[in-house]
Amino acid sequence: MSSKLQAPRGTFDVLPADAPARQTVEDASKRILEAAGYRRIETPAFESTELFARGVGEATDIVQKEMFSFEGFSLRPEGTAPVCRAYLDHGMHKLPQPVKLWYLGPYFRHERPQAGRYRQFWQVGAEAIGSDDPSVDAEIIVLLQALLDELGARELRLRIASLGTPASRAGYREVLQAYLREHAGELSAETRERIDLNPLRAFDAKDPGTQRVMDDAPRLADHLDDDDREHFAQVTDLLARAGVEWEHDDRLVRGLDYYTRTIFEFTSDALGAQSGVGGGGRYDGLMEQLGGPATPGCGFAAGVERMLLASEARPQPAASCDLFLAWESSERADAFALATEARRAGLAAQLDLAGRSIKGQMKQADRTGARYVAILYPDGTVLRDMDSGQEEKVERPGVVAGVLKGRHAL
Ligand code: HAM
Repeated sequence: MSSKLQAPRGTFDVLPADAPARQTVEDASKRILEAAGYRRIETPAFESTELFARGVGEATDIVQKEMFSFEGFSLRPEGTAPVCRAYLDHGMHKLPQPVKLWYLGPYFRHERPQAGRYRQFWQVGAEAIGSDDPSVDAEIIVLLQALLDELGARELRLRIASLGTPASRAGYREVLQAYLREHAGELSAETRERIDLNPLRAFDAKDPGTQRVMDDAPRLADHLDDDDREHFAQVTDLLARAGVEWEHDDRLVRGLDYYTRTIFEFTSDALGAQSGVGGGGRYDGLMEQLGGPATPGCGFAAGVERMLLASEARPQPAASCDLFLAWESSERADAFALATEARRAGLAAQLDLAGRSIKGQMKQADRTGARYVAILYPDGTVLRDMDSGQEEKVERPGVVAGVLKGRHAL
């Protein structure tokens, strides 16, 4: 016998028992985002590798180590660069701005698998493109908070910061690089190697020596220009007005290079090491990186699996079955026709598909939670009300009408 094949490491099957909880995430996302005027968009599962190299950034771990790439294409590691590409491709600048879009689908990162970290995972995200108003940033954060609340995510913390504009950040970058070089001997090798390419990542280092150095490092918040500071103040004021609690964390580091000004992250203390539930921010330079005209934007993405892990498991209502058709072997074709008629009439109907005895079929009907069972004998038909246990003889053409009437009477 050949060896048994398994799903690739870091992937998972969504089994029927898992589907209702995931459906809840989709339903809540749709309700909350569409009520705020966001409309659904889906982009392909793979794009040109260059989109992510330019959009997410050459220097990021995502682009350097975590993409599944083949023949100039990559499985998408995130959704913001693809949505911006679609905005440019379809001339959405002609629509009233900001264009508000949401998405839900699978994403791929070649990371080391562990609890809550997968190589194929799902994200729900929203992007508002075409306005740099602080109310956009606040709305994006409020909507993610609403989604997490709706799903019952526990022990949430929201951290936010401003990265400033590329100009104010460039000045700060030099100050930070000079500081890191001064302390090069106390840093981890990895941080030292990143001084030129990505000095901000030093704030994210796990190594205690580097962390000690970073405690006294110059802070970006002290190097923002007046416009950046004002923008950030307005975002946080709006959040306060919406009753959202947040912590200012100027050590917050995001793994993507497109951010300008507002960045934020929701974590759940109910999760282990992979505590990031969702995050995002503003990306006013991204469209130009992709070859489009300067167009501001802001958005979030949240991991579906992480949100479910952070949420209290809620009992899911069992799928309903209005009518189960049980039949003796000569009656199969009639049972099949009745099931089809019932479905066309809008009933949830099932019939035995395994040639069971009538007794076995009644057990199966019970397992499906059927409200009514029609038993088709060669010499007649019985309709059984599974709640009361009452049975009556009926004419076959009247079975569907009988169940519909019974359902209305409820
Ligand atoms: P991100 O922080 O890289 O942001 O990912 C968003 C969320 O996706 C994370 O908070 C986490 O819940 C989930 N996630 C990421 N990687 C994994 C993984 N390997 N396994 C399971 N879940 C994971 C973005 O992707 C940006 N596109 C967000 C954004 C939208 N910024 C602006 N607009």
